[in-house]
Amino acid sequence: MHDIIRQLDDKRSAARLGGGEKRIAAQHAKGKLTARERIELFLDPGSFEEWDMFKEHRCTDFGMEKQSLPGDGVVTGYGTVNGRLIFVFSQDFTVLGGSLSETHAEKICKVMDHAMKVGAPVIGLNDSGGARIQEGVASLGGYADVFQRNVMASGVVPQISMIMGPCAGGAVYSPAMTDFIFMVKDSSYMFVTGPEVVKTVTHEEVTAEELGGAVTHTSKSGVADLAFENDVEALTMLRRFINFLPSNNREKPPVQPTNDPAERLDFSLDTLVPDNANKPYDMKELIIKMVDDCDFFEIQPDYAKNIITGFARMDGHTIGIVANQPLVLAGCLDIKSSIKAARFVRFCDAFNIPVVTLVDVPGFMPGTTQEYGGIIKHGAKLLYAYAECTVPKVTLITRKAYGGAYDVMSSKHLRGDVNMAWPSAEIAVMGPKGAVEIIFREEKGDPEKLAQREAEYKAKFANPFVAGARGFIDDVIMPNETRKRVCRSLAMLRDKKLENPWRKHGNIPL
Ligand code: HXC
Repeated sequence: MHDIIRQLDDKRSAARLGGGEKRIAAQHAKGKLTARERIELFLDPGSFEEWDMFKEHRCTDFGMEKQSLPGDGVVTGYGTVNGRLIFVFSQDFTVLGGSLSETHAEKICKVMDHAMKVGAPVIGLNDSGGARIQEGVASLGGYADVFQRNVMASGVVPQISMIMGPCAGGAVYSPAMTDFIFMVKDSSYMFVTGPEVVKTVTHEEVTAEELGGAVTHTSKSGVADLAFENDVEALTMLRRFINFLPSNNREKPPVQPTNDPAERLDFSLDTLVPDNANKPYDMKELIIKMVDDCDFFEIQPDYAKNIITGFARMDGHTIGIVANQPLVLAGCLDIKSSIKAARFVRFCDAFNIPVVTLVDVPGFMPGTTQEYGGIIKHGAKLLYAYAECTVPKVTLITRKAYGGAYDVMSSKHLRGDVNMAWPSAEIAVMGPKGAVEIIFREEKGDPEKLAQREAEYKAKFANPFVAGARGFIDDVIMPNETRKRVCRSLAMLRDKKLENPWRKHGNIPL
């Protein structure tokens, strides 16, 4: 018995050492924590239950039969975050670069299968050189097994990928199918093929950072949602983020009691919208002043800044916010912002998170770049996402709601539950100038008459009452009472039930 216990201790120690002291030191020298240190920081202290610590690869090619790698380059199991069950896998870069073998994949699949059975999120801490080259097709098969589970889990349990080192080849496609991708600045990369291959194939010279670093993916490609300064900040923020989410699609998000009164008024909002309709203002100011404790967790803050997406709470309950940002491109909808917001709305809808939409949108962005890029198809993604969304939808028009963009932004016609407007709202097919230039084209040579027509158009449409008269707007509210009115609307909608007709799946314009 003693021998077995000693053997167990030895085996555990060997597994805990991963790729050995030297490689652990190298990992630390890069400013990175090890796979186990990350799990310890991420989960509640002492809550981690590890599985498959003794699992080893079965490869016998290229000298692999002589290499014993207990745990095979990934630490897996479950634990809690603020007392809630979470499944986790953490790739160990010190073991053959965290590369994915057949057995490494089996370990990941095991936690994913259990997470699905019990309805808990799966968090991947990714640090991997991709498919284990020595294993060939066996490792490719392993990847595909993980991909298949990513898809089956999509919309059932939240899946979040934290990219904490180089992630190459197959290592990027599993994260790509999860709900959110977060990265660590200066130490994480994502690319399908690295700089060397790029140089050979396209003759471009590019650094790993430029090709697939955190800044590239959070501001240029939109592949990643957020970037953090280092491992510690990333894991701390991940814990905070998880608090906004339900554990699965059958549950509502956890309620976080607050001392911020639901009926709180904010009179500074009465002067947020400038008198001049062409002057911008910061929509984030409204968000911060409206939500509980000014706590807003923004998603993709550096990508498509003309639309804001993120999570907050109202009276303790999680909401998703989608808001046009007049500070950037006047808040126009374009390809990137439509895709960004559509994906966000679909996440909220899948996980029972009400959507609050703040509208100040002059329309879709015109031009050849947008048309050739497929704005018709990509703009339709947002339209589709709002139209199929069945969670509570509360919409507030602060200023412009012009044209197709009025319809798209959670309008009454797309089953908006409560649609309100500030007195400054202007709801029309287009802005006054453009409108009179079209309908009074024959008066183009007479600037005086045209100015008069513009004033008439403005008087008729630059207000929320035409939409109010039709019931498209439920009420015109004072800006200072926004929080109170939105909180009440959300409370009224808490037990909302709405189902779409049965079908295998819809055909969103991808
Ligand atoms: C086996 C690997 C490996 C891999 C790295 N290692 N990647 N072993 N398979 N894919 C090993 C190295 O041999 C080394 O072993 C250790 O991990 C650390 O690697 P280094 O190169 O020393 O580290 P670094 O300089 O930081 O570079 C990291 C890296 C680089 C950028 C990830 O190693 C690299 O480019 N690796 C190959 C990436 C790749 O092409 N993967 C296959 C993609 S194809 P020692 O013993 O020295 O510590 C793929 C197909 C799936 O994934 C497609 C599905 C759709």
